Amino acid sequence: MNIIETLPAVRMLASKNGLVTCHLTDEKGDATDAKSTTLVIDDATELKDTFADWYKSSSEAPECVIIKGKAKIEIEPSKVVGRQRITGRVVIVTGGAQGFGAGIATELFEEGANIVVADLNEEVGMEMIDKLNGKGYSNKALFVKTDVSNPDSVENLINETTLHFGGLDVMISNAGILRAGGLDEMDPKTFDLMTKVNYAGYFYCAKYSSKVMKIQSQYSDDSYYMDILQINSKSGLKGSNRNFAYAGGKFGGIGLTQSFALELMPDRIKVNSICPGNFFDGLLWSNPENGLFVQYLKAGKVPGAKTIEDVKQFYENQVPAKRGCRVIDVVRAILYAIEQEYETGQAIPVTGGQEMLR
Ligand SMILES: NC(=O)c1ccc[n+]([C@@H]2O[C@H](COP(=O)([O-])OP(=O)(O)OC[C@H]3O[C@@H](n4cnc5c(N)ncnc54)[C@H](O)[C@@H]3O)[C@@H](O)[C@H]2O)c1
Repeated sequence: MNIIETLPAVRMLASKNGLVTCHLTDEKGDATDAKSTTLVIDDATELKDTFADWYKSSSEAPECVIIKGKAKIEIEPSKVVGRQRITGRVVIVTGGAQGFGAGIATELFEEGANIVVADLNEEVGMEMIDKLNGKGYSNKALFVKTDVSNPDSVENLINETTLHFGGLDVMISNAGILRAGGLDEMDPKTFDLMTKVNYAGYFYCAKYSSKVMKIQSQYSDDSYYMDILQINSKSGLKGSNRNFAYAGGKFGGIGLTQSFALELMPDRIKVNSICPGNFFDGLLWSNPENGLFVQYLKAGKVPGAKTIEDVKQFYENQVPAKRGCRVIDVVRAILYAIEQEYETGQAIPVTGGQEMLR
Protein backbone atom coordinates (compact mmCIF):
# COMPACT_ATOMS: atom_id res chain seq x y z
CA MET A 1 0.00 0.00 0.00
CA ASN A 2 1.33 3.44 -0.84
CA ILE A 3 0.67 6.42 1.42
CA ILE A 4 -2.34 7.63 -0.61
CA GLU A 5 -3.96 4.24 0.05
CA THR A 6 -2.79 4.01 3.65
CA LEU A 7 -4.10 7.37 4.89
CA PRO A 8 -7.83 6.77 4.13
CA ALA A 9 -7.55 3.31 5.73
CA VAL A 10 -5.97 4.76 8.90
CA ARG A 11 -8.60 7.53 8.99
CA MET A 12 -11.45 5.02 8.99
CA LEU A 13 -9.83 2.65 11.49
CA ALA A 14 -8.98 5.52 13.83
CA SER A 15 -12.57 6.74 13.98
CA LYS A 16 -14.85 4.06 12.55
CA ASN A 17 -16.97 6.90 11.14
CA GLY A 18 -14.65 9.39 9.50
CA LEU A 19 -14.81 11.92 12.32
CA VAL A 20 -11.07 12.47 12.31
CA THR A 21 -8.56 13.97 9.95
CA CYS A 22 -5.12 12.43 9.42
CA HIS A 23 -2.02 14.41 8.56
CA LEU A 24 1.14 12.94 7.14
CA THR A 25 4.09 14.50 8.98
CA ASP A 26 7.58 15.03 7.55
CA GLU A 27 9.05 12.40 9.89
CA LYS A 28 9.87 9.07 8.32
CA GLY A 29 8.49 6.71 10.95
CA ASP A 30 11.09 6.47 13.72
CA ALA A 31 9.40 4.42 16.48
CA THR A 32 12.14 4.62 19.14
CA ASP A 33 10.42 7.26 21.32
CA ALA A 34 6.82 6.25 20.58
CA LYS A 35 4.35 7.40 23.26
CA SER A 36 1.64 5.19 24.79
CA THR A 37 -0.91 6.98 22.57
CA THR A 38 1.00 5.97 19.43
CA LEU A 39 0.21 2.84 17.46
CA VAL A 40 3.31 1.37 15.84
CA ILE A 41 2.78 -0.80 12.78
CA ASP A 42 5.44 -2.92 11.07
CA ASP A 43 3.78 -2.93 7.69
CA ALA A 44 0.76 -1.10 6.23
CA THR A 45 -0.76 -4.38 5.06
CA GLU A 46 -1.29 -5.31 8.73
CA LEU A 47 -3.39 -2.21 9.52
CA LYS A 48 -6.67 -3.99 10.28
CA ASP A 49 -5.16 -6.58 12.66
CA THR A 50 -2.95 -4.09 14.47
CA PHE A 51 -5.87 -1.70 15.04
CA ALA A 52 -8.03 -4.64 16.26
CA ASP A 53 -5.31 -5.48 18.83
CA TRP A 54 -5.14 -1.82 19.91
CA TYR A 55 -8.90 -1.66 20.55
CA LYS A 56 -8.68 -4.80 22.74
CA SER A 57 -6.85 -2.74 25.37
CA SER A 58 -8.12 0.79 24.65
CA SER A 59 -11.50 2.31 23.88
CA GLU A 60 -9.80 5.44 22.49
CA ALA A 61 -8.26 5.67 19.04
CA PRO A 62 -4.49 6.29 18.87
CA GLU A 63 -3.34 9.91 18.54
CA CYS A 64 -0.61 8.96 16.16
CA VAL A 65 0.27 6.03 13.88
CA ILE A 66 3.84 5.17 12.95
CA ILE A 67 4.48 2.83 10.06
CA LYS A 68 8.01 1.76 10.83
CA GLY A 69 10.62 3.40 8.62
CA LYS A 70 7.97 4.82 6.30
CA ALA A 71 5.57 7.34 7.78
CA LYS A 72 4.26 9.14 10.85
CA ILE A 73 0.57 10.03 10.71
CA GLU A 74 -1.05 12.37 13.22
CA ILE A 75 -4.73 11.87 13.98
CA GLU A 76 -6.95 14.76 14.93
CA PRO A 77 -10.51 14.19 16.17
CA SER A 78 -13.12 16.59 14.77
CA LYS A 79 -15.03 18.76 17.23
CA VAL A 80 -18.80 18.80 16.88
CA VAL A 81 -20.16 22.32 17.35
CA GLY A 82 -23.86 22.90 18.01
CA ARG A 83 -26.11 21.26 15.47
CA GLN A 84 -23.68 21.15 12.58
CA ARG A 85 -24.80 18.59 10.02
CA ILE A 86 -21.58 17.33 8.44
CA THR A 87 -18.91 17.82 11.08
CA GLY A 88 -15.51 16.37 10.20
CA ARG A 89 -16.46 15.38 6.67
CA VAL A 90 -13.88 16.12 3.99
CA VAL A 91 -15.59 17.84 1.06
CA ILE A 92 -14.13 18.95 -2.28
CA VAL A 93 -15.95 21.69 -4.19
CA THR A 94 -14.67 22.16 -7.74
CA GLY A 95 -15.19 25.67 -9.06
CA GLY A 96 -15.40 26.64 -5.38
CA ALA A 97 -13.79 30.08 -5.74
CA GLN A 98 -16.86 31.84 -7.12
CA GLY A 99 -20.61 31.66 -7.72
CA PHE A 100 -22.59 28.65 -6.55
CA GLY A 101 -19.34 26.83 -5.66
CA ALA A 102 -18.15 29.56 -3.28
CA GLY A 103 -21.58 29.67 -1.64
CA ILE A 104 -21.67 25.88 -1.26
CA ALA A 105 -18.13 25.80 0.19
CA THR A 106 -18.98 28.53 2.71
CA GLU A 107 -22.27 26.98 3.84
CA LEU A 108 -20.78 23.48 4.22
CA PHE A 109 -17.84 24.94 6.16
CA GLU A 110 -20.41 26.45 8.56
CA GLU A 111 -21.89 22.94 8.87
CA GLY A 112 -18.54 21.67 10.15
CA ALA A 113 -17.00 20.22 6.97
CA ASN A 114 -13.32 20.45 6.05
CA ILE A 115 -13.39 22.09 2.65
CA VAL A 116 -11.12 21.81 -0.36
CA VAL A 117 -11.68 24.62 -2.85
CA ALA A 118 -10.52 23.32 -6.25
CA ASP A 119 -10.48 26.00 -8.91
CA LEU A 120 -8.50 27.40 -11.84
CA ASN A 121 -8.58 30.83 -10.24
CA GLU A 122 -5.80 30.75 -7.65
CA GLU A 123 -6.09 34.35 -6.46
CA VAL A 124 -9.80 34.25 -5.66
CA GLY A 125 -9.57 30.67 -4.38
CA MET A 126 -6.82 31.61 -1.89
CA GLU A 127 -8.84 34.63 -0.70
CA MET A 128 -11.79 32.30 -0.20
CA ILE A 129 -9.93 29.82 2.02
CA ASP A 130 -8.21 32.61 3.99
CA LYS A 131 -11.68 33.93 4.78
CA LEU A 132 -12.88 30.49 5.92
CA ASN A 133 -9.76 29.67 7.98
CA GLY A 134 -9.94 33.18 9.51
CA LYS A 135 -13.18 32.21 11.26
CA GLY A 136 -11.08 30.28 13.80
CA TYR A 137 -13.14 27.08 13.64
CA SER A 138 -11.55 23.68 14.24
CA ASN A 139 -12.45 22.53 10.71
CA LYS A 140 -10.12 23.76 7.98
CA ALA A 141 -10.14 24.86 4.34
CA LEU A 142 -7.51 24.11 1.68
CA PHE A 143 -7.08 25.46 -1.84
CA VAL A 144 -5.76 23.23 -4.63
CA LYS A 145 -5.33 24.80 -8.05
CA THR A 146 -7.22 22.49 -10.39
CA ASP A 147 -8.33 22.30 -13.99
CA VAL A 148 -11.19 19.81 -14.05
CA SER A 149 -10.79 19.34 -17.80
CA ASN A 150 -7.34 17.79 -17.20
CA PRO A 151 -7.32 14.26 -15.66
CA ASP A 152 -3.80 14.67 -14.21
CA SER A 153 -4.86 17.85 -12.46
CA VAL A 154 -7.91 16.12 -10.94
CA GLU A 155 -5.78 13.17 -9.80
CA ASN A 156 -3.40 15.65 -8.16
CA LEU A 157 -6.39 17.29 -6.41
CA ILE A 158 -7.41 13.97 -4.87
CA ASN A 159 -3.83 13.18 -3.80
CA GLU A 160 -3.35 16.62 -2.20
CA THR A 161 -6.68 16.29 -0.38
CA THR A 162 -5.74 12.85 0.94
CA LEU A 163 -2.28 13.97 2.10
CA HIS A 164 -3.79 17.00 3.86
CA PHE A 165 -6.94 15.57 5.46
CA GLY A 166 -6.45 11.80 5.25
CA GLY A 167 -9.34 11.02 2.91
CA LEU A 168 -12.44 12.26 1.14
CA ASP A 169 -16.15 11.92 1.93
CA VAL A 170 -17.97 14.19 -0.49
CA MET A 171 -16.93 15.21 -4.01
CA ILE A 172 -18.98 18.09 -5.39
CA SER A 173 -18.36 18.40 -9.12
CA ASN A 174 -19.56 21.98 -9.56
CA ALA A 175 -17.12 23.69 -11.96
CA GLY A 176 -18.91 24.47 -15.18
CA ILE A 177 -18.85 26.95 -18.06
CA LEU A 178 -21.51 28.31 -20.36
CA ARG A 179 -20.97 29.65 -23.87
CA ALA A 180 -24.35 29.96 -25.54
CA GLY A 181 -24.87 29.79 -29.29
CA GLY A 182 -26.98 28.14 -31.99
CA LEU A 183 -25.65 25.80 -34.68
CA ASP A 184 -24.52 28.67 -36.91
CA GLU A 185 -22.48 30.36 -34.19
CA MET A 186 -21.07 27.45 -32.18
CA ASP A 187 -17.56 26.53 -33.34
CA PRO A 188 -16.22 23.01 -32.70
CA LYS A 189 -13.42 24.30 -30.45
CA THR A 190 -15.86 25.96 -28.03
CA PHE A 191 -18.08 22.88 -28.11
CA ASP A 192 -15.09 20.66 -27.23
CA LEU A 193 -14.02 22.94 -24.37
CA MET A 194 -17.51 22.96 -22.85
CA THR A 195 -17.77 19.20 -23.18
CA LYS A 196 -14.36 18.74 -21.55
CA VAL A 197 -15.20 20.95 -18.54
CA ASN A 198 -18.90 20.16 -18.02
CA TYR A 199 -19.02 16.47 -19.02
CA ALA A 200 -15.53 14.87 -19.00
CA GLY A 201 -14.61 16.92 -15.90
CA TYR A 202 -17.35 15.17 -13.97
CA PHE A 203 -16.01 11.77 -15.13
CA TYR A 204 -12.49 12.65 -13.92
CA CYS A 205 -13.86 13.82 -10.55
CA ALA A 206 -15.81 10.58 -10.10
CA LYS A 207 -12.94 8.37 -11.32
CA TYR A 208 -10.27 9.66 -8.95
CA SER A 209 -12.45 10.42 -5.91
CA SER A 210 -14.06 6.97 -5.99
CA LYS A 211 -10.59 5.37 -5.66
CA VAL A 212 -10.09 6.90 -2.21
CA MET A 213 -13.74 6.35 -1.23
CA LYS A 214 -13.52 2.64 -2.12
CA ILE A 215 -10.58 2.24 0.28
CA GLN A 216 -12.58 4.02 2.99
CA SER A 217 -15.51 1.68 2.40
CA GLN A 218 -13.24 -1.36 2.99
CA TYR A 219 -12.09 -0.01 6.36
CA SER A 220 -15.36 1.44 7.72
CA ASP A 221 -18.57 -0.14 8.96
CA ASP A 222 -21.82 -0.60 7.01
CA SER A 223 -23.33 2.64 8.24
CA TYR A 224 -20.67 4.77 6.55
CA TYR A 225 -21.76 6.35 3.25
CA MET A 226 -19.94 8.70 0.91
CA ASP A 227 -21.22 10.98 -1.84
CA ILE A 228 -20.37 12.12 -5.32
CA LEU A 229 -22.59 15.05 -6.28
CA GLN A 230 -22.74 16.83 -9.58
CA ILE A 231 -24.12 20.36 -9.81
CA ASN A 232 -26.10 19.89 -12.97
CA SER A 233 -28.81 22.32 -14.18
CA LYS A 234 -32.43 22.52 -15.22
CA SER A 235 -30.84 22.48 -18.70
CA GLY A 236 -29.91 18.86 -17.97
CA LEU A 237 -33.62 18.02 -17.78
CA LYS A 238 -34.97 19.94 -20.77
CA GLY A 239 -33.39 21.18 -24.02
CA SER A 240 -32.17 24.77 -24.09
CA ASN A 241 -32.65 26.87 -27.24
CA ARG A 242 -29.33 28.01 -28.79
CA ASN A 243 -27.55 26.54 -25.79
CA PHE A 244 -27.15 22.91 -26.89
CA ALA A 245 -23.46 22.56 -25.98
CA TYR A 246 -24.36 23.30 -22.37
CA ALA A 247 -27.61 21.29 -22.28
CA GLY A 248 -26.00 18.31 -24.05
CA GLY A 249 -23.15 18.10 -21.53
CA LYS A 250 -25.58 18.42 -18.63
CA PHE A 251 -27.94 15.74 -20.04
CA GLY A 252 -24.85 13.51 -20.40
CA GLY A 253 -23.97 14.21 -16.78
CA ILE A 254 -27.25 12.63 -15.67
CA GLY A 255 -26.39 9.51 -17.70
CA LEU A 256 -23.05 9.39 -15.87
CA THR A 257 -24.77 9.87 -12.51
CA GLN A 258 -27.19 6.99 -13.09
CA SER A 259 -24.40 4.69 -14.30
CA PHE A 260 -21.89 5.62 -11.56
CA ALA A 261 -24.66 5.12 -9.00
CA LEU A 262 -25.21 1.53 -10.14
CA GLU A 263 -21.48 0.81 -10.09
CA LEU A 264 -20.64 2.45 -6.77
CA MET A 265 -23.54 1.62 -4.43
CA PRO A 266 -21.85 -1.66 -3.38
CA ASP A 267 -19.03 0.53 -1.99
CA ARG A 268 -21.59 2.72 -0.16
CA ILE A 269 -20.86 5.64 -2.48
CA LYS A 270 -24.05 7.44 -3.50
CA VAL A 271 -24.06 9.47 -6.69
CA ASN A 272 -26.63 12.18 -7.37
CA SER A 273 -27.04 15.28 -9.54
CA ILE A 274 -28.55 18.51 -8.25
CA CYS A 275 -30.33 20.50 -10.99
CA PRO A 276 -30.65 24.17 -10.02
CA GLY A 277 -32.73 26.74 -11.83
CA ASN A 278 -31.24 30.08 -12.90
CA PHE A 279 -28.99 31.73 -10.33
CA PHE A 280 -30.09 35.32 -11.06
CA ASP A 281 -28.00 36.79 -8.22
CA GLY A 282 -24.78 35.21 -9.57
CA LEU A 283 -22.31 36.87 -11.94
CA LEU A 284 -23.45 34.95 -15.02
CA TRP A 285 -26.77 36.79 -14.89
CA SER A 286 -26.09 39.89 -12.76
CA ASN A 287 -22.59 41.02 -13.81
CA PRO A 288 -23.23 44.75 -14.44
CA GLU A 289 -20.81 44.78 -17.41
CA ASN A 290 -21.55 41.62 -19.37
CA GLY A 291 -24.12 39.61 -17.38
CA LEU A 292 -27.01 37.99 -19.23
CA PHE A 293 -29.49 40.63 -17.98
CA VAL A 294 -27.39 43.41 -19.58
CA GLN A 295 -26.85 41.36 -22.75
CA TYR A 296 -30.57 40.57 -23.10
CA LEU A 297 -31.54 44.22 -22.50
CA LYS A 298 -29.09 45.43 -25.18
CA ALA A 299 -30.21 42.73 -27.62
CA GLY A 300 -33.89 43.61 -27.07
CA LYS A 301 -34.57 39.97 -26.27
CA VAL A 302 -37.36 40.85 -23.83
CA PRO A 303 -40.14 42.79 -25.64
CA GLY A 304 -40.89 46.17 -24.01
CA ALA A 305 -38.09 45.91 -21.41
CA LYS A 306 -36.46 49.28 -20.68
CA THR A 307 -34.30 48.46 -17.67
CA ILE A 308 -32.32 45.56 -16.26
CA GLU A 309 -35.02 45.23 -13.61
CA ASP A 310 -37.64 44.71 -16.40
CA VAL A 311 -35.53 41.90 -17.89
CA LYS A 312 -35.03 40.32 -14.48
CA GLN A 313 -38.74 40.44 -13.71
CA PHE A 314 -39.55 38.84 -17.08
CA TYR A 315 -37.37 35.83 -16.18
CA GLU A 316 -38.53 35.67 -12.56
CA ASN A 317 -42.12 35.54 -13.77
CA GLN A 318 -41.35 32.29 -15.60
CA VAL A 319 -40.62 30.62 -12.28
CA PRO A 320 -43.67 29.49 -10.27
CA ALA A 321 -41.77 30.54 -7.10
CA LYS A 322 -41.24 34.00 -8.72
CA ARG A 323 -37.54 34.19 -7.97
CA GLY A 324 -34.21 32.75 -9.05
CA CYS A 325 -32.41 29.86 -7.39
CA ARG A 326 -30.24 30.82 -4.42
CA VAL A 327 -27.17 29.20 -2.89
CA ILE A 328 -29.15 28.10 0.15
CA ASP A 329 -31.67 26.24 -2.06
CA VAL A 330 -28.80 24.23 -3.59
CA VAL A 331 -27.15 23.64 -0.21
CA ARG A 332 -30.39 22.24 1.23
CA ALA A 333 -30.55 19.77 -1.67
CA ILE A 334 -26.89 18.81 -1.12
CA LEU A 335 -27.47 18.19 2.58
CA TYR A 336 -30.58 16.15 1.75
CA ALA A 337 -28.60 13.97 -0.67
CA ILE A 338 -25.81 13.46 1.88
CA GLU A 339 -28.10 12.69 4.82
CA GLN A 340 -30.46 10.49 2.81
CA GLU A 341 -28.83 7.08 2.79
CA TYR A 342 -31.58 5.63 0.55
CA GLU A 343 -31.15 7.81 -2.53
CA THR A 344 -28.76 7.33 -5.42
CA GLY A 345 -28.71 7.88 -9.18
CA GLN A 346 -31.17 10.79 -8.96
CA ALA A 347 -31.39 14.16 -10.66
CA ILE A 348 -32.85 16.40 -7.97
CA PRO A 349 -34.50 19.54 -9.41
CA VAL A 350 -34.14 22.79 -7.41
CA THR A 351 -36.03 25.06 -9.78
CA GLY A 352 -38.85 26.73 -7.84
CA GLY A 353 -41.25 24.60 -9.89
CA GLN A 354 -39.94 25.74 -13.29
CA GLU A 355 -38.89 22.23 -14.27
CA MET A 356 -40.74 19.18 -13.01
CA LEU A 357 -39.85 15.52 -13.32
CA ARG A 358 -42.14 13.20 -15.19
N1 LIG B 1 -25.50 30.32 -12.84
C1 LIG B 1 -26.61 29.64 -13.07
O1 LIG B 1 -27.67 30.23 -13.35
C2 LIG B 1 -26.61 28.14 -12.98
C3 LIG B 1 -27.85 27.47 -13.03
C4 LIG B 1 -27.86 26.09 -12.92
C5 LIG B 1 -26.67 25.39 -12.79
N2 LIG B 1 -25.50 26.05 -12.77
C6 LIG B 1 -24.28 25.25 -12.64
O2 LIG B 1 -23.65 25.58 -11.43
C7 LIG B 1 -22.24 25.41 -11.55
C8 LIG B 1 -21.55 26.69 -11.10
O3 LIG B 1 -22.01 27.75 -11.92
P1 LIG B 1 -21.80 29.30 -11.54
O4 LIG B 1 -22.84 30.06 -12.26
O5 LIG B 1 -21.67 29.44 -10.07
O6 LIG B 1 -20.41 29.57 -12.26
P2 LIG B 1 -19.35 30.76 -12.12
O7 LIG B 1 -18.89 31.07 -13.49
O8 LIG B 1 -19.85 31.88 -11.26
O9 LIG B 1 -18.17 30.03 -11.32
C9 LIG B 1 -17.52 28.92 -11.86
C10 LIG B 1 -16.22 28.66 -11.14
O10 LIG B 1 -15.62 27.52 -11.79
C11 LIG B 1 -14.26 27.82 -12.06
N3 LIG B 1 -13.84 27.06 -13.24
C12 LIG B 1 -14.15 27.28 -14.54
N4 LIG B 1 -13.55 26.36 -15.33
C13 LIG B 1 -12.85 25.54 -14.51
C14 LIG B 1 -12.01 24.42 -14.72
N5 LIG B 1 -11.76 23.95 -15.96
N6 LIG B 1 -11.45 23.81 -13.65
C15 LIG B 1 -11.67 24.29 -12.40
N7 LIG B 1 -12.44 25.36 -12.13
C16 LIG B 1 -13.02 25.98 -13.18
C17 LIG B 1 -14.20 29.32 -12.27
O11 LIG B 1 -12.89 29.82 -12.06
C18 LIG B 1 -15.22 29.82 -11.24
O12 LIG B 1 -14.61 30.03 -9.98
C19 LIG B 1 -21.98 25.04 -13.01
O13 LIG B 1 -21.81 23.67 -13.16
C20 LIG B 1 -23.24 25.52 -13.71
O14 LIG B 1 -23.49 24.77 -14.89
C21 LIG B 1 -25.43 27.41 -12.85
